[in-house]
Amino acid sequence: MASAVSAIVSLPSSKSAAISTRTSLITQERVSFTKVPYYKNVSSNVKSLSIRAQVTTEAPAKVEKISKKQEEGVVTNKYRPKEPYVGRCLLNTKITGDDAPGETWHMVFTTEGEIPYKEGQSIGVIPDGIDPKNGKPHKLRLYSIASSALGDFGDSKTVSLCVKRLVYTNDAGEEVKGVCSNFLCDLKPGAEVQITGPVGKEMLMPKDPNATVIMLATGTGIAPFRSFMWKMFFEKHEDYKFNGLAWLFLGVPTSSSLLYKEEFEKMKEMKPDNLRVDFAVSREQTNEKGEKMYIQTRMAQYDRELWELLKKDNTFVYMCGLKGMEKGIDDIMGTLAAEDGIDWVTYKKQLKKEGQWNVEVY
Ligand SMILES: Cc1cc2nc3c(=O)[nH]c(=O)nc-3n(C[C@H](O)[C@H](O)[C@H](O)COP(=O)(O)OP(=O)(O)OC[C@H]3O[C@@H](n4cnc5c(N)ncnc54)[C@H](O)[C@@H]3O)c2cc1C
Ligand SMILES: NC(=O)c1ccc[n+]([C@@H]2O[C@H](COP(=O)([O-])OP(=O)(O)OC[C@H]3O[C@@H](n4cnc5c(N)ncnc54)[C@H](OP(=O)(O)O)[C@@H]3O)[C@@H](O)[C@H]2O)c1
Repeated sequence: MASAVSAIVSLPSSKSAAISTRTSLITQERVSFTKVPYYKNVSSNVKSLSIRAQVTTEAPAKVEKISKKQEEGVVTNKYRPKEPYVGRCLLNTKITGDDAPGETWHMVFTTEGEIPYKEGQSIGVIPDGIDPKNGKPHKLRLYSIASSALGDFGDSKTVSLCVKRLVYTNDAGEEVKGVCSNFLCDLKPGAEVQITGPVGKEMLMPKDPNATVIMLATGTGIAPFRSFMWKMFFEKHEDYKFNGLAWLFLGVPTSSSLLYKEEFEKMKEMKPDNLRVDFAVSREQTNEKGEKMYIQTRMAQYDRELWELLKKDNTFVYMCGLKGMEKGIDDIMGTLAAEDGIDWVTYKKQLKKEGQWNVEVY
């Protein structure tokens, strides 16, 4: 049985791009496991580790791994570089202010439902043109999907991206433009775009609708979390009603680079008890020691609270964006763990194994 909800959502800094979204809902198929494994809880000084043991006298059967993430029905690599899906750009809007350092664009492509992606997956884009270095077509670049599986129009027929235009000065002092990001940011509505994928399973959402979901993003690393949060707060699903805690930390250089801020404020108005949002604006804010406000600096202000949340079996951490953030976050967690006599590296390994620590940084 399907049901529907209407949500009016506006794209952040765009004056004109208000999207009226009518969301229709599809019941997802659930896979039931026939073998029910026996769990034995073994206490250690680290964490209560769930060790799976087979209660049988027969030859040991292969134990099925039950994922805590929404992996059922996830499709990967439906479209490959040799035969990409050709979609069209429906809209493309700059979502950073004119005074922001660099431009980030939000864009929507048609898929006609042919790219069956889930929240947390990515797609590949093959930019038009030839690579002058080898005379061959350009290689694909990956982009995290910024829309929920239903898409920004709620009809499961579009996919959205959040792309930063790469421009830098090389050693010779020349301005160099990144091939694919500039191709995408310059796309006009109606233009064709070659898409591959979907790909990726690391960033899939937790199954548990009562989970605590801690989302750590720098810049365009916000993409998968916008996708999560649309599903959690703007949509109605028969098999998923979010009633846990979503806590977003977003690091950006200036307040004019804050991405999707209005959407997150709207979500908070709708469900204030289920959402926390903390921004770290690195070039405008500092901590009490006068240090630059990076995402890990903001997190440090809540360190004990975050650490307590991490001890719960249904807390899931997701990290996306700049590679540099990973070390900063590890450093905070390492200190907190050590205070409790816990080795962070071992603890993190266990969290990763349980699908509770998920990282996609580049
Ligand atoms: C899984 C995944 C998801 C991603 N998701 C997103 C996303 O959602 N949004 C997004 O914007 N990007 C995302 N990216 C990054 C994206 O794939 C591209 O790498 C990015 O857009 C740059 O591609 P380009 O073709 O514009 O640049 P290219 O033409 O490929 O140029 C990039 C190259 O330029 C060089 N370079 C870059 N900066 C400098 C510098 N400052 N100085 C000197 N050399 C430099 C480096 O050699 C670099 O490899 C993601 C990457 C991955 C792996
Ligand atoms: N799935 C993925 O893997 C994925 C998805 C999306 C994006 N990305 C990648 O994520 C990156 C995002 O870049 P962007 O240009 O969009 O971001 P941006 O707008 O430049 O913002 C990045 C923020 O992170 C800060 N920062 C710099 N070094 C840091 C460090 N070591 N630790 C914590 N914060 C740090 C920056 O501060 P200052 O500039 O003030 O130093 C800035 O505030 C890109 O490299 C993109 O390719 C990856």
